[in-house]
Amino acid sequence: MKHLLFLLLLLPCLANAQNTLRSVSSPDKKVSVTIGLNKTGEPFYKVSFNGKTVVDWSRLGFTTKETDLRSGYTLMNAQTSTFDETWKPVWGEVAQIRNHYNELRYTMGHQQLGSALTIQFRVFNDGIGFRYDFLTKDNEGKKLTFTDELTEFQMTGDHTAWWIPGDFDSNEHVYTTCKISEIDCARYNREHAIATQHIVKMKNTQTPITMRMADGTHITIAEAALADFGALHLETDVKKLKFKAFLISTADSTVKSVNTLPFHTPWRVVLLSKDAAGILQSKLIMNLNEPCKIQDVSWIKPQKYVGVWWEMHVGLATWDYEATADMMAATGREVKGKHGANTENVLRYVDFAAQYGFDGVLVEGWNTGWKDWFGKMKDEVFDFAKPYPDFDMDRISRYAKEKGVKIISHHETSAAVPSYERQMDAAYAYMKKNGQNAVKTGYVGKIIPRGEWHDGQWMNNHYLRVAERTAQNQIMVDMHEPVRPSGWHRTWPNWLASEATRGQEFNAWSTGNPPEHECILPFTRSLGGPIDYTPGIFEVRMSAYDPKKTEVVHTTVAKQLALYVTLYSPLQMAADLPENYEKRLDVFQFIRDVPVDWDDTKILEASIGDYMTVARRQKGAQNWFLGSITDENPHKFEARLDFLAPGKTYVATIYADGKGAHWKDNPYPVSIRSIEVKKGDKLLLDLAAGGGCAVSFKVK
Ligand code: NOJ
Ligand code: CA
Repeated sequence: MKHLLFLLLLLPCLANAQNTLRSVSSPDKKVSVTIGLNKTGEPFYKVSFNGKTVVDWSRLGFTTKETDLRSGYTLMNAQTSTFDETWKPVWGEVAQIRNHYNELRYTMGHQQLGSALTIQFRVFNDGIGFRYDFLTKDNEGKKLTFTDELTEFQMTGDHTAWWIPGDFDSNEHVYTTCKISEIDCARYNREHAIATQHIVKMKNTQTPITMRMADGTHITIAEAALADFGALHLETDVKKLKFKAFLISTADSTVKSVNTLPFHTPWRVVLLSKDAAGILQSKLIMNLNEPCKIQDVSWIKPQKYVGVWWEMHVGLATWDYEATADMMAATGREVKGKHGANTENVLRYVDFAAQYGFDGVLVEGWNTGWKDWFGKMKDEVFDFAKPYPDFDMDRISRYAKEKGVKIISHHETSAAVPSYERQMDAAYAYMKKNGQNAVKTGYVGKIIPRGEWHDGQWMNNHYLRVAERTAQNQIMVDMHEPVRPSGWHRTWPNWLASEATRGQEFNAWSTGNPPEHECILPFTRSLGGPIDYTPGIFEVRMSAYDPKKTEVVHTTVAKQLALYVTLYSPLQMAADLPENYEKRLDVFQFIRDVPVDWDDTKILEASIGDYMTVARRQKGAQNWFLGSITDENPHKFEARLDFLAPGKTYVATIYADGKGAHWKDNPYPVSIRSIEVKKGDKLLLDLAAGGGCAVSFKVK
């Protein structure tokens, strides 16, 4: 009764709530959700964690063109159930994942909808997921045109938030750290220009957004299993400290999504943890995705690769064969910046990969079309089965096969997506014919069909079609410029990674990524799935290529090594030029050794935007690898080696910031030493400003 009285004072509109309130708690009882209808039949929910409200009464629902779905619901029934299962990911940070939750299906009748709407809540020990399930009874085939999502997240204080702007076309932004009340995208208008940006509202943020409450509780708002819908952004009410769902629209700006029943929305997610480390350990987003749909997964291989890539980004080579050929014809001279994907150069990379144990060589600029790719919004630009004349596909394929290396194909679509869809089958057949089983796709530029957005419903369906079609062809895929992931790699583990972030390339040709950037990504963008971030740059100053250049990688070299452990991905590039690695083979040894697939992961310390230290156990082995990174401030941490197997001696090879290292003033020195250690020992990690430390622990 006391509880009810409090409720009535708090939210008078829930006056009718006593009949409709239902609750469900997590298996450990620490998280609980209550849902109810107010007197006009509008649904609301609230969430508590460790006895405190963390999401206060917040609206649920939608508006559609066909039916007024805002209010007028009546409770039909509320069913609870429990689920507990442990499953093994095809690859990952841990060998097995527990999917344990209590579910509440809150089913409401609605006269105009003509049937029922179920809001399905799953409550885990580390947060909640909910989605809207439009039931089919008598309604199959009915069309719903969604014009707005009403879901809200009422925060209980002015938390510190880490966020990027709600951009329809890009996730390639620097993060801002500020209070909820200070969220404002205005400054992003002055950000270094990137290919495509579309920010419609200055208070909108992307998801995942992660927040820290005054008592140290961490909250992330995210989504899972995004399909057939616009991506979820949040509109911030900076006065009320409330977020409201904001869906990316379709080509018709008044429409967010058009769906045919039966239909359920993607999951809306709230991750909860007493500290930052708990957010990193959560597997809730993956658990809300469907199990693997690929029966034979034996061909899916986490991997490290090198590539004809960085040399284009630093201005030594071009993607475009014609431009170079035209220029050479005009000047009669060799020109600087020649076509990178020429046969001799690719063979050089194949040799390098074979010699140092890399699985793949990415080649960009191998196919015709690059002359017209950038910023022209042109259709039918690329041919994905037609190499340039100086790229001898037969010779390269034969040579790569002999050397045991796979060429990773590149399909830059320049966002001309229908043209790519028409070519997909032929392109994948051409890859298979040439012995290739991995492709990097790209979506630079404005989307064709005109008016669609990178993160809108139409494109979100496209990315899934690519995942499915590549899987049917036993091809692994890495997508650049797609929507940010929402856990689909559980269902389609051939989708190894995505970019969907401001990756390393920005350090080559822009103001770059500040030292804190990689200390924020694991707590935001990475929560939905792995990034193809492309670490491993040893030549961190672009003036080495052209004295006029001022761009730098905003880390020390030791931090570049640590990123292979801290930024989890089953697909990791050694992104620098072979000649830069050959100058520092002792440092390069860590990149050669570090695995890309793990049986276990321990977060030893974490503070968002400041520092983190992670230890991971190599898949199928007792070896461990540790990565520790910091932002622009130096950082010391005494790591307890409790994770090592008992009774074993390990040789720890420590790649630390060398004397006087500093990301800006002195980024190069790396000190390497080996010592013997065992479980329970302590290791002092001493990180320079913008620095890092990487350690391999091999059983002696
Ligand atoms: C942007 C991608 O992120 C980058 O990796 C690629 O090299 C260029 N597009 C060209 O496709
Ligand atoms: Ca990109």
